[in-house]
Amino acid sequence: MLRVDHLTFAHPGQSQSYDFSFEAEAGAVTAISGASGSGKSTLLDLLAGFLTPVAGRIDLDGSNLVPLPPEARPVSLLLQSESLFDHLSAAKNIALGLPAGTAKAETQRQIAEALGEVGLPGLEDQPASTLSGGQKQRVALARTLLRNRPVLLLDEPFSALDDDTRGVIRQLVRELTVRHGWHTILVSHHSDDVEALASRHYALSGGKLVAA
Ligand SMILES: Nc1ncnc2c1ncn2[C@@H]1O[C@H](COP(=O)(O)OP(=O)(O)O)[C@@H](O)[C@H]1O
Ligand SMILES: [Mg+2]
Repeated sequence: MLRVDHLTFAHPGQSQSYDFSFEAEAGAVTAISGASGSGKSTLLDLLAGFLTPVAGRIDLDGSNLVPLPPEARPVSLLLQSESLFDHLSAAKNIALGLPAGTAKAETQRQIAEALGEVGLPGLEDQPASTLSGGQKQRVALARTLLRNRPVLLLDEPFSALDDDTRGVIRQLVRELTVRHGWHTILVSHHSDDVEALASRHYALSGGKLVAA
């Protein structure tokens, strides 16, 4: 269980302050919805460690993540238009997420397995520049699989996709979340994303989260 307890923050020079409390279960998608500018990305940045809270806790199975720098947090972040390096192959993009020192053959095997799991078997050598938007999100999810971190943060991950692709990637996120026991936090302002995926839903307004 991920428990966020009175995580408190204000952007420098901004009057709005945030006081976030919520819970997210393992193997389930927790949705956060809210108007543009309500603070959804701010919340994810606090969870990922890119912003430092004034007070509060982020407990994952009882241990507090707040003191940890971003790279030491058991957290992956997936954005709307994925930050793949266009000039690198799918496999090289995935390998970027790996700790140094893994044996090459073992890495190749893990990448092939992850590409199979996201429905892109055999695409190792394809340059990222030639992948569709949906394929890029799949490669990004494959990278997440190799990093194997139990908290997955998704910031409007389906917004740039057409409706059909969106449904497929949404389903994939749900399957991976259940299979790997991830605590997946989905930020979206699309109510159909929330309805299709979320087992819990919070609305963000006035700097606070309210169960919706
Ligand atoms: N680095 C920053 N410095 C100051 N204000 C910021 C910064 N980042 C975001 N904000 C402001 O904080 C508010 C929440 O932003 P954000 O979390 O990006 O909202 P959302 O993701 O819900 O659209 C907005 O008013 C935004 O302008
Ligand atoms: Mg945002």
